[in-house]
Amino acid sequence: MFELSTYLKEKRRMIENALDRHLPTEETRPGVLHAAMRYSVFSGGKRLRPILCLAAADAVKGREEDALLPAIALEVLHTYTLVHDDLPSMDDDAVRRGQPTTHIQFGEATAILAGDALLTLAFEWLGQCRAPAPYLPGQYVHEVAEAAGSRGVIAGQIEDLAAETGDTTPERLDFIHLHKTAALIRAAMRVGAIAGGASAEQLDAVSVYGCNIGIAFQIADDLLDETGTTERMGKPAGSDRKNKKLTYVSCYGLEQSRKRAETLVDEAIAALSLFKGPTAPLEAIARYVIDRDH
Ligand code: IPE
Ligand code: IPE
Ligand code: MG
Ligand code: MG
Ligand code: MG
Repeated sequence: MFELSTYLKEKRRMIENALDRHLPTEETRPGVLHAAMRYSVFSGGKRLRPILCLAAADAVKGREEDALLPAIALEVLHTYTLVHDDLPSMDDDAVRRGQPTTHIQFGEATAILAGDALLTLAFEWLGQCRAPAPYLPGQYVHEVAEAAGSRGVIAGQIEDLAAETGDTTPERLDFIHLHKTAALIRAAMRVGAIAGGASAEQLDAVSVYGCNIGIAFQIADDLLDETGTTERMGKPAGSDRKNKKLTYVSCYGLEQSRKRAETLVDEAIAALSLFKGPTAPLEAIARYVIDRDH
């Protein structure tokens, strides 16, 4: 019987050890910058993106070790998005992962620079890895840059901010969720699958899975913002309402949002049928994405 909590614990330990080995320490000048980077990274995140990256490599019968450096690159990149997302000029939140946000702890300028440095570090690590043939050696950089840049996460973030005072159409909501959240989760799956030597067909399937659970993940985040507690989530409940965000909850209400997330997860699991390696972790993670309480 597959036990998700044991699996997640084991993968988190592997990821956190690798992060600790690779991130510069405070002894490296400028100490305060490296302290802020480590503070943001080592604060108890769920590590979903790197775990998906490892699980994708496994599902195509590849070696998890080959996906480990790309996996931690995804986590530091994700952490940069959180540091900047919390800034006063963006969501203006004071708590993240159960502790004061980076700009509260270190000041705004250091938080911006720590975010910049985490983003840059992600590409330093990705650039050190070579994707196996028939993929281009620089395929990881390409995949992640596209997902993170102005046609990916940043596109979603700017539209998310614009929607606070502008158009609030369902079409815009889907654009926001697809870009600010699903793009990176899909990239995590693709990078892991490529590291594991996926066929073109398998890569298409992990993309469908990643995209679906990515949107479902953001719908669950919208639901938790409305129904969860600050204590359990480690970030302020009600932040979306405070900022008049366009969310699944504001657009469709709680019940319809839950149904939509469930359908997306069912479709994600259906996309796993052609894998030869173990898919129990990906199935369980897909359900966890919408059943979680933080
Ligand atoms: C938060 O991501 C930002 C969203 C895309 C909703 P996570 O919920 O994965 O945050 P951590 O990494 O576990 O803190
Ligand atoms: C943020 O969405 C997505 C990114 C950080 C790219 P949210 O603004 O909803 O994330 P939380 O709720 O602050 O974690
Ligand atoms: Mg935001
Ligand atoms: Mg936010
Ligand atoms: Mg949110």
